[in-house]
Amino acid sequence: MEEVLSLKNSFLEESRTVTSLAELQQLKVKYLGKKGLVTSKLKFLSGISPELRPEYGKTVNEVKGYIEEQINRIESLLKKEDHKKRILSEALDITLPGKFTPFGREHPINKVLSEITRIFISMGFEVEEGPEVELDYYNFEALNMPKDHSARDMQDTFYISDDVVLRTHTSPVQIRVMEKKKPPLKIIAPGKVYRCDADISHTPMFHQVEGFMVDTAISFSDLKGVLESFIHSFFTVDTPVRFRPSYFPFTEPSAEIDIGCPFCDRKGCSVCKKSGWLEILGAGVINPRVFEMVGYNPEVYSGFAFGMGVERMAMLKYSIDDIRLFFENDMRFLKQF
Ligand code: PHE
Repeated sequence: MEEVLSLKNSFLEESRTVTSLAELQQLKVKYLGKKGLVTSKLKFLSGISPELRPEYGKTVNEVKGYIEEQINRIESLLKKEDHKKRILSEALDITLPGKFTPFGREHPINKVLSEITRIFISMGFEVEEGPEVELDYYNFEALNMPKDHSARDMQDTFYISDDVVLRTHTSPVQIRVMEKKKPPLKIIAPGKVYRCDADISHTPMFHQVEGFMVDTAISFSDLKGVLESFIHSFFTVDTPVRFRPSYFPFTEPSAEIDIGCPFCDRKGCSVCKKSGWLEILGAGVINPRVFEMVGYNPEVYSGFAFGMGVERMAMLKYSIDDIRLFFENDMRFLKQF
């Protein structure tokens, strides 16, 4: 009997160290489980003299009841505490300041690229793209620059292998498009090009927009009309334009197109090297040799082509004097556009 009663105290003592529901469950099993300390006391019942038996039974049941009550009390306390802890840990402090996420914006080169593209699309041109890692055949050979041609400047080309280069211009897209489509064609091809060159006005990677038109009666005057409209739309309507004879193996005749220097109003300054003019484009009437390479009949078809440097256009439009600024990603520079 005494042993039974002492279970009350030992339970009380042990229950004080309980800090979690799991621990409480263990304690419950220890005392009230099938083989628990209290339960096992009932097994002695049959060995106790009949006159003491009712009282012994009553005591065991009372202790059992007491322990059950305690367990329920502790359980509800622990549950309350758990709840409190969860509320605290999940609480949001809505008075804290938010996290600042800076906005990106369009890079000036992409901005100028879209502007150029938009103007040509408005004139009915379609946009095509070609690979930056290009076959020597498309970059040179099919553009009338065979292996021994002097216009292939070895120093300027990044060679991947004998037959594969990083394209040095967007002109190979002319060939790729003409190989798969029939005239009439009115195409522009914007993209990245690569040359082994780096100084204040050259970066190893830069952007070009190629343009060309092929049909049955295209002449140099169409080239003039398209380019003048473009220049007046991109710069200002009164920007002076000059066509100057030049040479490209894939056009004949060829021209370089200058605009009146916007830095000095054609008076002559350091940017235009006192000439009053700045070169912005290479262009010309497509060489019949190029048509032969793609299987077009040069007796039937004629066309013009041009290529412009996007960085150059951006520098002129925004009066930027160092091309490297575009690629340094200095926020103070990029924010201005
Ligand atoms: N591909 C020439 C260059 O990069 C530019 C050009 C394109 C000239 C088309 C004529 C016709 O210099």
